[in-house]
Amino acid sequence: MMKITNVDGPPGFQEFDDIEDRMTSEHVEDVREIFNTPLTGSYNWDYTVADNRIKRLYELGKELNWNGSIDLDWSNHIKRGDLPVKPEFDDLGNVYPEYNDMSDEEKREVSWHASAWGLSQFLHGEQGALLVASQLVSCAPTYQAKLYAASQCFDEARHVEVFNRYLQDVMGMSYPISPSLKALLDKGLTDPRWDLKFIAMQIIIEGLALAAFQSTKMSTSCPLLRDLTHYVIRDEARHVTFGINYLEDFNKTLSKDEIEDRARFAYEACVIMRDRIQNYELGKKFFGYSEQEAREAILKSGVNDDFRGLLFNRVMPNLKKIGLLTESVRPLYDELGLLEYEVAPSDFEIDWAEISKPLESSDEIETQADEQAEVIKEMFHNH
Ligand SMILES: [Fe+2]
Ligand SMILES: [Fe+2]
Repeated sequence: MMKITNVDGPPGFQEFDDIEDRMTSEHVEDVREIFNTPLTGSYNWDYTVADNRIKRLYELGKELNWNGSIDLDWSNHIKRGDLPVKPEFDDLGNVYPEYNDMSDEEKREVSWHASAWGLSQFLHGEQGALLVASQLVSCAPTYQAKLYAASQCFDEARHVEVFNRYLQDVMGMSYPISPSLKALLDKGLTDPRWDLKFIAMQIIIEGLALAAFQSTKMSTSCPLLRDLTHYVIRDEARHVTFGINYLEDFNKTLSKDEIEDRARFAYEACVIMRDRIQNYELGKKFFGYSEQEAREAILKSGVNDDFRGLLFNRVMPNLKKIGLLTESVRPLYDELGLLEYEVAPSDFEIDWAEISKPLESSDEIETQADEQAEVIKEMFHNH
């Protein structure tokens, strides 16, 4: 019998070696955490179809649908005991000096947990995206935006499915959501204003997701995960493109005060993303660090500098495009050292030609991942 249990938060670290037992036992439980949202939905009776980018994005979504069970080779993956990242991306020793004294076997195990933590955040983030996208169907004011949001729901469902399957079948473990990522999702899910959901989801969280998937695609030693993240990236790029297109026009209709509100909201979300979504679990579990010590070790090591560059290279120009880098928040971004990114050139994926290409083969994805790693090295290390 399925039992449904309400909980105050996500379950802790889980290993799946008993998965068969759990699925067949009588104790299968559906665990859920309740949230409330004052959702203001709308019908729209104007079914006029304008031939614009929103319509093209919707069409593109339908055309480029991929199937996680068919288009990915689920037999071509790394195994427990392998190093889950390419050796040149194995930087844990820069954060935790103790790591350098470990045996190769121990290092591979710690690194496995680090990857599982990151992929678990992807899974939880995708669930959040699925929930927000479903709210957008109700909240989006126009007919075309509603259809588009519906297509995004299905994309997000597919992302939840593939990351979950990867964690279950390949990693064999999962970690709970980081409190900061949870706070970011809550911001979008529980705000009653639809356009703030758009900002939180399509600009901030999707931007974060794109940067995180991009680094995983470059650094993973697993062919399956490289293909998987590549396909997900293609969908996310479409989602961000939609958000920018929609908000660019909509924000022009807002008053100065309303814009300031939204600019603040985006800034607060950026603060969370800048240095709070970190893996403190690893330091605690393997090296006996407190959360504070782990936090300091990560900051000091600078291992996240490239990632931060990659992240804000995407997010800042997009915030600028939709009019949210106002005079009052600019100094705040400057204090965080983020203002320099506002003029970053547009990135690889968010480009019409890129997002409308047919799906690439595994070999093409591998070559592309290596090329992009080179470009990124140049971007952040040769100035
Ligand atoms: Fe997604
Ligand atoms: Fe998405």
